Amino acid sequence: MKTLAERIGDRSATVGVVGLGYVGLPLAVCFADVGFDVVGIDYSSEAIAQLHSGEPTTGDIDPAALTAHLKAESIRLYDSYEPLETADAICICVPTPVTEHREPDMSYVRSAAHGVAEYLGRGQLVVLESTTFPGTTDELVRPILEATGLRVGRDFALAYSPERVDPNNQRFGLQNTPKVVGGVTAKCGDLAALLYSQIVTEVVPVSSPRVAETAKLLENLFRHVNIALVNELALLCDRMGLDVWEVIDAASTKPFGFMRFEPGPGVGGHCVPVDPFYLAWKARSYGFHTRFIELASDVNTSMPRHVVQKVIEALNSRAKSLRGSQVLVLGAAYKGDIADTRESPALRIIPMLHELGAHVSYNDPHVPSLSANGWTGRSEALTDAAVQTADCVLILTKHSSYDYERIAVLASLIVDTRNALRPDAGCHVFRLAAQPAHVHAEAAAAIYERHSRPPSQPRATRPVLAAEA
Ligand SMILES: NC(=O)c1ccc[n+]([C@@H]2O[C@H](COP(=O)([O-])OP(=O)(O)OC[C@H]3O[C@@H](n4cnc5c(N)ncnc54)[C@H](O)[C@@H]3O)[C@@H](O)[C@H]2O)c1
Repeated sequence: MKTLAERIGDRSATVGVVGLGYVGLPLAVCFADVGFDVVGIDYSSEAIAQLHSGEPTTGDIDPAALTAHLKAESIRLYDSYEPLETADAICICVPTPVTEHREPDMSYVRSAAHGVAEYLGRGQLVVLESTTFPGTTDELVRPILEATGLRVGRDFALAYSPERVDPNNQRFGLQNTPKVVGGVTAKCGDLAALLYSQIVTEVVPVSSPRVAETAKLLENLFRHVNIALVNELALLCDRMGLDVWEVIDAASTKPFGFMRFEPGPGVGGHCVPVDPFYLAWKARSYGFHTRFIELASDVNTSMPRHVVQKVIEALNSRAKSLRGSQVLVLGAAYKGDIADTRESPALRIIPMLHELGAHVSYNDPHVPSLSANGWTGRSEALTDAAVQTADCVLILTKHSSYDYERIAVLASLIVDTRNALRPDAGCHVFRLAAQPAHVHAEAAAAIYERHSRPPSQPRATRPVLAAEA
């Protein structure tokens, strides 16, 4: 009988993937692509039915590749955990959102761990991939698995290896992004490293699951803090009448010691706005206050309000109020060319505009319908007439399929939060933090005029009152 290491080495092992979403599905396809038998488990029977019909649950998968694997039975899909009995290695890729109080919601990981525990057998390798707080693998998953009577390191192996996939990144995918792996014991780490070395070009072993868990959070926190930094700079540039994009372009010419980040209407996605709270929450149990996380969150979550203010200012320049105006939002996904709307700034901005009395419609070629804090709508066709009749076109996502030059020609007023339009697109374009110079000149002149007028007469002596008297 071959050992697990031998079965992984010659790819005769069966790999189980629990949770077939943005992370789990591409992973399942990757293992099947290199010759492993894969059992995919998702507790959502709708998701399983959708996958069986050849429709991937995420845009990063080639539907033909999935269909071919399903047909050849190199991937078999189930909505129950029982088939995990036949798996040699199991990767858990379930969601790790936050509760309404911004605390880790571990219910998915807990239920997946219980499902895996039910069919845990001697010699199996279990790897948690979900992004989570340091200690999850050891303090939460391990006790659930060991409650079966089996012992980690003796009867089964347990490790943590974070998923680093960046949706729609054309340069870096699963295979060419190094994979960090930390085992509960050295042998657990070796087995997990061997498994991932079958599908990725580089595995980075670390000394424990905790190191790997914290490294993943650091990566996303780094993005969160740096996006907050440029967002704050954008707010300052807006006050100063500076084009923040020109500033960033200039700074980006430094060939060392600077990394480009872009401001925007807020941060979105399942990771960057959420993961830092996992670290903040864990830090609190050590009596430690993570000030950078709180500050970055404050700045990033203030951006949607700034965008709404920008729309109000833009309409104001046309002597229009937001109430009653037609606002056409372009883009609802949290970033360009994807369909993911999780934590998207659009989900906050659209309801705010709606509550302030605007008639909001949206177009997103990747998002057919949207439901945001009580506001629901369907993506409207992006016709010339729709652009022309809008009182304000608000660009929230930079999808490459939009013809921005044409939009700039047709629209009467645009608020561009993504630097989608050229700086010289016209004075009807209000940019996130690059107020057109004429607006500043006009505003400055108006303020000067207001302050240089003699103070208004006291109320009691105003002519209208005198006449009434
Ligand atoms: N989406 C990304 O770009 C990305 C990148 C890196 C890391 N991550 C992390 O990976 C993890 C998974 O994220 P995702 O984006 O793939 O989530 P997702 O919501 O796209 O998919 C999760 C899937 O798991 C299923 N599921 C939930 N609980 C289950 C359970 N107990 N048993 C079986 N199936 C279950 C759901 O039905 C869903 O299909 C999260 O921790 C996330 O933070 C995500």
